[in-house]
Amino acid sequence: MLLEVKNLNKSFGSVTAAKNINFKMNENDIIGVIGSNGAGKTTFCNIITGYLKADSGEILYQDRDITKFNVQEIKNIGIHRSFQIPQVFENLGVLENIIIAELVAKKKQHSFFEEAYTKENYDKAINLLERFSLDATKFKDKVVKELPQGARKILDILIAIIGTPKVILLDEPTSGISTEEKNIVMTNILKAIKEFNISVLFIEHDMEIVEQFSDRVVAFYNGEIIADGNPKEVFKQKNVQKYIVGSS
Ligand SMILES: Nc1ncnc2c1ncn2[C@@H]1O[C@H](COP(=O)(O)OP(=O)(O)OP(=O)(O)O)[C@@H](O)[C@H]1O
Ligand SMILES: [Mg+2]
Repeated sequence: MLLEVKNLNKSFGSVTAAKNINFKMNENDIIGVIGSNGAGKTTFCNIITGYLKADSGEILYQDRDITKFNVQEIKNIGIHRSFQIPQVFENLGVLENIIIAELVAKKKQHSFFEEAYTKENYDKAINLLERFSLDATKFKDKVVKELPQGARKILDILIAIIGTPKVILLDEPTSGISTEEKNIVMTNILKAIKEFNISVLFIEHDMEIVEQFSDRVVAFYNGEIIADGNPKEVFKQKNVQKYIVGSS
């Protein structure tokens, strides 16, 4: 098993954000996570990635107990994530953002000034843009804040896969972008991620996107997983219809 979560619980005062969560993820899974606002989707990602500690429960990665690992340790073993809001340097160039992330992943951040912006590093960054289907001639000389929102989201996810994780958790990769752009963004992200053999879990509010791009759907409601399985089956379930599909 690649990733396994057992009996996870987390409360914030009187709010139960995770209630007895059990979840398994295999190699090459592409899992869509659905649930209305406040259902516990981000909390689930925060606990797996060490940003929050659960009140109880266990997290296993490749059968190893990582429940007590911190954010950096979890990243180092191969579980990466992206956030609802892109975590990029807005005032830096697109390529510079990628180069810095590469150096940080290799823990060379103290040597920026000597060797960051080499031709080799620029070429590698351009190659990554291309693997994510971002038009390098159009974007390579741009500062991040000049990018369209869709390209910025793709760049953010591209940066999150630097260091070649085995698992990536994407918190709303299509939030804030137009309906037309969502399909392009998801297609480009998933094509690149599959080429790197990374397993994906993505949180998404748009049910058409979930149905189109995931092999499995996990539905959250009030901190609980109320359905987990093949998209068509999950969408048919009464509680999913009542609490999620019908209310979004
Ligand atoms: N750090 C925190 N402190 C207190 N309450 C929190 C904290 N993080 C989350 N919560 C609460 O836990 C519940 C689950 O929140 P969470 O952010 O996981 O929901 P979500 O499913 O990601 O929602 P959305 O779709 O709006 O992003 C909510 O009631 C939220 O207010
Ligand atoms: Mg959230």
